[in-house]
Amino acid sequence: MRVLVIGSGGREHALVWKIAQSSKAEKIFCIPGNAGIAQLAKCVALPPSDFESLAFFAEKERIDLTVVGPEDPLACGIVDFFEQRGLSIFGPTRAAARLESSKAFAKKIMSRYNIPTALGQEFSSADDAIAHVTRVGAPVVVKADGLAAGKGVTVARTVEQAIKAINDIMVARVFGSAGDKVIIEECLVGEEASILAFTDGVNVVPMAVSQDHKPVFDADQGPNTGGMGAYSPAPVVSQKLFDEIQRSILEPCVRGMRAEGIPYRGCLYAGIMVTEAGPKVIEFNCRFGDPETQVVLPRMKTDILVPMTACSSGSLDGVSLEWSEEACVTVVMASGGYPGSYEKGKVIMGIDAAEKEGKVMVFHAGTRRGDRGEWLTNGGRVLNITALGRTIPEAIDNAYQAVRLIHFENAHFRTDIGQKALKHLHQVC
Ligand code: AMP
Ligand code: GLY
Repeated sequence: MRVLVIGSGGREHALVWKIAQSSKAEKIFCIPGNAGIAQLAKCVALPPSDFESLAFFAEKERIDLTVVGPEDPLACGIVDFFEQRGLSIFGPTRAAARLESSKAFAKKIMSRYNIPTALGQEFSSADDAIAHVTRVGAPVVVKADGLAAGKGVTVARTVEQAIKAINDIMVARVFGSAGDKVIIEECLVGEEASILAFTDGVNVVPMAVSQDHKPVFDADQGPNTGGMGAYSPAPVVSQKLFDEIQRSILEPCVRGMRAEGIPYRGCLYAGIMVTEAGPKVIEFNCRFGDPETQVVLPRMKTDILVPMTACSSGSLDGVSLEWSEEACVTVVMASGGYPGSYEKGKVIMGIDAAEKEGKVMVFHAGTRRGDRGEWLTNGGRVLNITALGRTIPEAIDNAYQAVRLIHFENAHFRTDIGQKALKHLHQVC
């Protein structure tokens, strides 16, 4: 098969890495990719938003399957565009991607199909939203309706913080039209987990559970980022809870979307809060998670092109996934200053040495090659240092041993990735 992956981050490097292991993969392309991905795929500098050029490329290169990493092209209808041209593509249509691109839409689906989530209300007027938070009090969660690059959610500890968030979104319009509406939600208490699932619109095949670390500093301090690290499995989700999530969240969502006449195909990502009252949905995403993909795919024994092609052709029935017993941890090495402003172009040393360590994979999120072939930083999140281990503690050790071999000026990483898992393991012991 000739496969095209769209995107340029650590998630796409992990996808390309996994696809490259498939005996079916003959040639892999990535648009636009990054310097790390270029070791495994032919990277082509086209903008992921230019669907006409992408479809032309896919036709010219006789691509058998296109896999879309990020949400923006999905929310803008790349799947509809490719399918109209008779091209096979993995991902939801524009209408189905609204599960991520409109939080108000996702809330309506959850309410209509009894999917457990935080109580919430949508507002189109800042005054009404402010009156509401003043009445209900804090803590309270304020969410911009549309896509805001992961920055549209404020967990407000005070009413003043909530009012500021509403004004930023609806009056200052810091996220543009993504802030036409806000959702005000009750604040859920518990531990988070991410579940990715393959679906062909009818059948749902969940992948292994993982946990992301969104805040930039240790102990979940500081502003939220795209994700500073992840691990899988996530012992906060027991087998019983996993079955409940499939039965009460994933399956009703896919069934509900079909009943609405908007079948959902591709990867469905459920962000879950494990509360005392059971699992509740924090958000749905219409794609693989980043950095969750970097810890889920190394544990997947199955050839990933099997479920992917089955999703696109509506034949996921009977497809099952096999998982390694090993644990996987990824530590994000970021540019100092991220998620605020940061400098690019710092020389990175030690990638080769880290990759020589047993069970280590270095997925590139933001790198480029310098004139002399050296690795340079080229983004906020730079590298995902990923390691397998027989247990979570062993995978943590392997990942941090590799992190210690890599250096660039002002590198920042969290030192506590995976620690939350340990308290559950200790409880079991
Ligand atoms: P989202 O962009 O929707 O994933 O939200 C970003 C983060 O905000 C989540 O990972 C949670 O930590 C937090 N969050 C979102 N909604 C809620 C909620 N209803 N209660 C508590 N925390 C929330
Ligand atoms: N790791 C969070 C996300 O992919 O949205």
